[in-house]
Amino acid sequence: MAKGDPKTLHPETLAVSAGYDPHAHRGAVKPPIFLTSTFVYPTAAHAKKVHEIFFAPEPPQAGERPDFIYSRLDHPNMAMLEDRLALLDQAEASAVFNCGMAAITCVMQTFLRPGQTLLHTRPIYGGTDALVHNHLSQFGITPVSIENGLDAQSIRAGAEAALAIGPVGLVLVETPANPTSGIADIALVTEIVGEIAQRQGTRPPIVVDNTFLGPFLQTPLKHGADLTMTSLTKYAGGHSDLLGGGVSGNAQLIGRLKQLRTLMGSHMDPHTGWMLLRSFETMPLRTQRAGANARDVAEFLRSHPKIANVNYVGFHEAGSAARAVFERQCRGAGSTFSFRIKGGEPEAFRMLDRLQVIRMAVSLGGTETLICHSATTTHYAVPRERRLLVGIDDSSLRISVGIEHPEDLIADLAQALEAI
Ligand SMILES: Cc1ncc(COP(=O)(O)O)c(C=O)c1O
Repeated sequence: MAKGDPKTLHPETLAVSAGYDPHAHRGAVKPPIFLTSTFVYPTAAHAKKVHEIFFAPEPPQAGERPDFIYSRLDHPNMAMLEDRLALLDQAEASAVFNCGMAAITCVMQTFLRPGQTLLHTRPIYGGTDALVHNHLSQFGITPVSIENGLDAQSIRAGAEAALAIGPVGLVLVETPANPTSGIADIALVTEIVGEIAQRQGTRPPIVVDNTFLGPFLQTPLKHGADLTMTSLTKYAGGHSDLLGGGVSGNAQLIGRLKQLRTLMGSHMDPHTGWMLLRSFETMPLRTQRAGANARDVAEFLRSHPKIANVNYVGFHEAGSAARAVFERQCRGAGSTFSFRIKGGEPEAFRMLDRLQVIRMAVSLGGTETLICHSATTTHYAVPRERRLLVGIDDSSLRISVGIEHPEDLIADLAQALEAI
């Protein structure tokens, strides 16, 4: 192992130590929280110099970081977290935001212009769907969806439909998708984006929403994506007690995001940055335990007579395209998945209301197991026709399995299913 080069270390080690040097902070084993809104300039000439660097039209090169000026622009806790996240995502640089939606909004506003199209896999998270359909559409941006992100013909059909409307400005791949756990082939999308680039003369960036797996189980940049985005609220935070978002990629693209983040004020605050740096330390352990629990719960549900089907990433059939992509692209199945009960909304609600250990709430990736009825919660804002198109009906439930003892989770589900 080459001393001093963090890239030679394993992710579990980086999660504990990368981005923070105790020797630069009076030997403190854990980082201080920098509760300051602004930073003192040592001289007027220095002040001019740091502003020149920060506001240069070209974003900084990889590894370059101007001195701190004002906490909306950058601050030490954000810098530490970004350095750690970049290493975990195997990227040159990262930018963190006050939530996942702020990260997605910044990506869209940085790369999309009126008259362009956003090509995306489907389904996408309800919040992203609403952002695109209800808000960005008012600015002349048209979303066009890809029916099957595993099939070249289907991706090309989506690209044709988008190009017929306008140039493709950005490609969004959510894989696995929320809540269906549908998989898209990032490498195949990248290949077809190359064809789009030939046709329109510019290559639209590809951003992958990696929230369902996170940096330990999927590295989208290795498969051709330009940017990987994660809601840090979920598995990175891991305790359902904070909101955050992160995007990783090359220094140039991340620099552009930071320029807009400064203007929109969607940076992460120092306390949340500190909490996330700490939470990353246990993320590999939590990911492992929750993943093992999720498999047990998914197996139980699959064999239960009142369950119609289980959309767990680990269940894709051997020999199927989804299985092949899963094995090539992912290092685990994660611990959030959806399933359909036999019945509709009344049966789903009866079952949910009987749960005692498992908590009914939106969000995912926490230590505790959470469950929700997708159609009436996370995907409430998505019109029924678009929900049904991707298999989110009144019988669909989404579960995020936590780190409790799996037998307690299974016993709770078993007793609640008796209500159906
Ligand atoms: C796949 C996905 N992307 C993005 C988001 C938005 O993240 P946040 O809630 O941190 O804004 C969520 C939230 O549930 C999500 O599930």
